[in-house]
Amino acid sequence: MSENSENPTMPQSPEQPAAPAPAAPQRTAEQPEAPGPSQTAARRTAEQAAAQERAARMHARGLRMFPDGTGPSPDPAGSHFERRIRSFQPRRSRVTTGQAEALKKWWPTRGLDIDGQRVLDLGEMFGGLPVVLEIGFGMGEATAQMAADDPATGILAVDVHTPGQGNLLGLAERNGLSNVRVANGDAIILLREMLAPDSLAGLRVYFPDPWPKARHHKRRLVQPEFLSLAASRLAPGAVLHCATDWENYAEQMLEVLTAHPDFENTQKDGGYAPRPAFRPLTRFEGQGLDKGHAVHDLLFRRVPHAG
Ligand SMILES: C[S@@+](CC[C@H](N)C(=O)[O-])C[C@H]1O[C@@H](n2cnc3c(N)ncnc32)[C@H](O)[C@@H]1O
Repeated sequence: MSENSENPTMPQSPEQPAAPAPAAPQRTAEQPEAPGPSQTAARRTAEQAAAQERAARMHARGLRMFPDGTGPSPDPAGSHFERRIRSFQPRRSRVTTGQAEALKKWWPTRGLDIDGQRVLDLGEMFGGLPVVLEIGFGMGEATAQMAADDPATGILAVDVHTPGQGNLLGLAERNGLSNVRVANGDAIILLREMLAPDSLAGLRVYFPDPWPKARHHKRRLVQPEFLSLAASRLAPGAVLHCATDWENYAEQMLEVLTAHPDFENTQKDGGYAPRPAFRPLTRFEGQGLDKGHAVHDLLFRRVPHAG
């Protein structure tokens, strides 16, 4: 069984498949048996350098999803090749005709490859609107709904899932949403390399991959290190909003957020928050509710800078 199939919440498109989306090549090289710590470190460094080279080559060649050189890049920052622990699983998924058309039409103006090469000017991208980052929008229905409900806020929506990127671009087009941009790649690289300190008016992480097996918990997105990075990109007073239907992930989120010095709970009792009216029900939330899961929202405020 692949790790992908062990993650029960990967998005599925309801539409019929039409074309294969790009997928990262599978690693096939055999690993040496029981390498020592220095061998392991050296191998990692070499692999990371190779991944960066591959990404730079793809970038330089302008490799894109469509043969005419348009659409998102298959792996803009080489993140799929990296050995570091990632919160997502690269997967081969199919893009429908409608999604492909939306990608072709809108990627040049509303899409963004996370190449880690420059710091974004969010003011220019969103015409001066305050900008909220949503990590892991899946098929994007909830994102489109929030963008329609609040046109005075820009949403920078990031995911690695190509069909979802096409779906969200199509929804934005059909609903006349000018306040959504779709980012392709690893949110960690986006936060670390491409967003300026204090630049975000909010951060939304709705139903992140739960990685339910204990041995996969290290892949969960919401961890202390992620919170430190997120805090550095959030403006003081901006809210980090997480939601999950996995009880022990909710407990983990509450524990690490409560312990983090850069965040304070918006709930006076120090617990979970009621679902705010602005958050629509999401696709994965619906699946969780069907299984009888309880849903927890967590809203934590970025505290003002010390000193
Ligand atoms: C379980 S799905 C939830 C989708 C949606 N929020 C919903 O509730 O329907 C989590 C999504 O997060 C994306 N994801 C996980 N880690 C990510 C990362 N580091 N950068 C970008 N997207 C990520 C996955 O590709 C997946 O589409």
